[in-house]
This record gives sequence, C-alpha cells and structure tokens, in this order.
Amino acid sequence: MSGETRYVLITGANRGLGLHSARLLARRGWSVIAACRKPEAAAPAAEELRAHGATVVRLDVTDPESVTAAVHMVRNTTRKLHALVNNAGIFEHAEEHLPDAPAAITRDLLLTNAWGPLTVTQQFLPLLRAADGASVVNVTSQDVDPENLDGTFTGYCMSKAALNVMTANLALALRPDRIVVNGVDPGWIPTDMGGPDAPDDVTQAARTVATAVELAGTGRSGEILRAAN
Ligand SMILES: NC(=O)c1ccc[n+]([C@@H]2O[C@H](COP(=O)([O-])OP(=O)(O)OC[C@H]3O[C@@H](n4cnc5c(N)ncnc54)[C@H](OP(=O)(O)O)[C@@H]3O)[C@@H](O)[C@H]2O)c1
Repeated sequence: MSGETRYVLITGANRGLGLHSARLLARRGWSVIAACRKPEAAAPAAEELRAHGATVVRLDVTDPESVTAAVHMVRNTTRKLHALVNNAGIFEHAEEHLPDAPAAITRDLLLTNAWGPLTVTQQFLPLLRAADGASVVNVTSQDVDPENLDGTFTGYCMSKAALNVMTANLALALRPDRIVVNGVDPGWIPTDMGGPDAPDDVTQAARTVATAVELAGTGRSGEILRAAN
C-alpha cells in the first residue's frame, strides 16, 4: 500500500471522537472522508477538516438514501476505501432505567448504534473489497459485557452489545476479503456525550482508533482495542 493514497471514511466526524480521529488520521497522511449528518450545522468543523485536506460528505447512518448517496460520491471520486470508522453514536440519558424509558428512544439507540454501522458497512463493502486489504473499526463499549452491567442504560448497552456481535461475526465473514474488523473502546472521554468530567483522554482514544484503522492488511481481526487502562 506504500505510496498509494489511503482513504478512510469516518462517520460522525464533525465533533467529539470522530473529529479528533479525523484530525489525527489526516496528520498521519490519510485522505479523510469526513461523514457528517448535517455538514451545514457543523460548518466550523467542516471548514477545519477541509483545511486538513479532508472531503466532507453528508451521511446520516439511520437514513439508507443518505448512505447510498455517500457511497456514490465516494465511488465516483476514490474508487476504493481502505478504512471505515463507524464512530457515529447516540447516548440518551432519558432511557437510564428501562421501565420508564420511552420505546422510541430504545428504538433510536438500536437504529443509530447497531443497525447504522451494519448498513453503512454493507453499503461500503464493494469499495472496501477494492482496496485489497481494508479495515473496519466500530467504536463501541466493553461496559456492555454482562459482568459490567448495573441495571441502567439498557437500550444503549443492547445497541453496543449488538455492535460487538457484529464486529466478531463480520471479522470471520470478511476474512476471505482481506478486510479486518475490530472494535475500539475509547473509555469514558470528555466529549458532548461523555460530559466535561469524563476521566479518560480523547487524544488517546483517537490514537487507538488510528491504530485500529492501521490494522488494514495485518490479518488482526475480531478484537476490541481498549484506549484507557
Ligand atoms: N464519550 C464516551 O465516553 C464514550 C464511551 C464509550 C463509547 N463511546 C462511543 O464513541 C463514539 C463517539 O462518541 P462521542 O463521545 O464522540 O459522542 P458525541 O460527541 O456525542 O458525537 C457523536 C457524533 O455522532 C454523530 N451522530 C449521531 N447520530 C448520527 C446519525 N444518525 N448519523 C450520523 N452521525 C450521527 C453526531 O453528529 P451530530 O453532530 O449531527 O449530532 C456526532 O458527530 C460513539 O459511538 C459512542 O457511543 C463514547
């Protein structure tokens, strides 16, 4: 792959961990495709990313038409994709305790955090295959392991547990295509989602995303890389 332009698409690239990862990968020489749900509402971030050489594309992971449009745009410009980072996600405090959680919130969590990464990965598969040694990175959480559960945030935990199953299963299914599929657990990081008092380091989390991206071509697949100790 040396000398070849390497393309990485990151969902939810307009703020939080997605933005940090986009900046870092651009600095490491990757050609970044920054996927944002509403680029016009994220103008300063989009402008900064363009200044880093990134291409900004509209992509709502819950909207299949927007995913299809993004695939067309990428196919027409790059022909291939070396890495896909399924970073976009939501976390709703309103669903802290399941008995009172509105069903619509649980549905949205599953749709955005589990179904979204699956459909985005499926739609970008032909471009990932064309790279001949690609990487898919799912930003997840290991707090959803049964021994870590505490009876709260059922919808969020269900969504990330489903994402972890998808990671393990696609790692096996895509081995013949030379596509590695890994998760990254960023820790509890101070983004809009994590809040200002989160104890872990978003820069370290972005480094772990970059490490997982750069597993392309190594054969290391089906792991969850932990950013925090
Ligand atoms: N923060 C933590 O402590 C923590 C811990 C474990 C795992 N994670 C995971 O890390 C990832 C990044 O989280 P973060 O902390 O950076 O959160 P964040 O600051 O809240 O950013 C979330 C990003 O996801 C995007 N997004 C949400 N719904 C979307 C959709 N339907 N389509 C496309 N983009 C969408 C948001 O776009 P808009 O600006 O348009 O809303 C935003 O760019 C998530 O998957 C999260 O679950 C975070």
